[in-house]
Amino acid sequence: MALPKPHGGKLIQNYNPNYDLTGIEKEILIDAIALSDLELIGVGLFSPLTGFIGKADYESVVEKMRLADGTVWSIPVTLPVSVEKANELAAGEKFKLVHEDEIYGVIDVSEWYEPDLGKEAREVYKTEELAHPGVKRLFERGPVYVAGEVTLIKKPSKGVAEDVWFEPKDTRALFEEKGWKTVVGFQTRNPVHRAHEYIQKAALETVDGLFLNPLVGETKSDDIPADVRLRSYRVLLENYYPKERTQLAVYPAAMRYAGPREAIFHAIARKNFGCTHFIVGRDHAGVGNYYGTYDAQHIFSNFTEEELGIKPLFFEHSFYCNKCEGMASDKTCPHSKEDRVILSGTKVREMLRNGELPPSTFSRKEVVEVLIEGMREKETV
Ligand code: ADX
Repeated sequence: MALPKPHGGKLIQNYNPNYDLTGIEKEILIDAIALSDLELIGVGLFSPLTGFIGKADYESVVEKMRLADGTVWSIPVTLPVSVEKANELAAGEKFKLVHEDEIYGVIDVSEWYEPDLGKEAREVYKTEELAHPGVKRLFERGPVYVAGEVTLIKKPSKGVAEDVWFEPKDTRALFEEKGWKTVVGFQTRNPVHRAHEYIQKAALETVDGLFLNPLVGETKSDDIPADVRLRSYRVLLENYYPKERTQLAVYPAAMRYAGPREAIFHAIARKNFGCTHFIVGRDHAGVGNYYGTYDAQHIFSNFTEEELGIKPLFFEHSFYCNKCEGMASDKTCPHSKEDRVILSGTKVREMLRNGELPPSTFSRKEVVEVLIEGMREKETV
């Protein structure tokens, strides 16, 4: 097996730190999510996108999970602006993309349009409820989307050590260098608990390398902060994973919490990194009870393996079972609920805040220690 070609066939590289800004007077202020999207387009993680998408692509993605040319794409990557800003726009004109007084890029405006946000919410997130963090953000961001090719001029700081930020061009070279012919990507927005470790290692039994790729862009406020999580990943890898078969790298995208649609989106980004396989477990990218436990697996049946170009590996709900005396899943464990160590994320966060240790059958003690320390630091800041 060879590493997959980037999605759409070509790795997009729209980064130019020497871009000549002469004559570009106007600017568009962008939020943290648009900044992250700009970067990910620029470095090719969102290949084949070369900019924020136009109306035809937008409508096609919302309705059919495909760009207008048929390429699989499940989440609209859009640049929202106010009505006042929209009144300043002109097709063919370039605008600086500015975040917190810094110029990060340029957009060559091709068009702008008013999205049907209700429809986008229903189709992409399967709900219009504002209690859904992705939907809330969607409605707050509207009401006009600007489209056009972008050039990334300055790469935003990730707030993390450089050794865990690789662009797709780097990971592709790295995988080649390591001689990995098959690589499984793992998305997470959480610390790696025993269940995560179990499914990663089960996958690693059949492929050459594990690409542990935690999302470190915008998450909801009660998710564990990225810097604390990164410390927990490092200590876990150090103690429990084979160094020569594991690579840690951050995925600096914003979390959408779009469940099934986001699972496809996550898989495509990992394909662009060069992964051949992608893990989809229980309620991938879900939040609350908006999605069925395995909806994010079922959605893959809408696409052929060829058009997706990365193989999803599905895992059932996993846990430690006291009777099995080991990790297991709904698929492999015959015992009852009482024998299984299952803790909700909310419960674990509450325990950590109170300095209580979740059991080692739920999370490795080294990980728990880092998390408790991290929670304490945050509280004293
Ligand atoms: S996510 O929002 O990034 O998907 P999380 O970090 O919890 O959330 O999950 C990372 C990956 O592990 C996802 O593919 C998810 O489906 C899977 N996963 C999480 N917990 C379990 C579990 N107990 N059993 C099986 N898969 C799980």
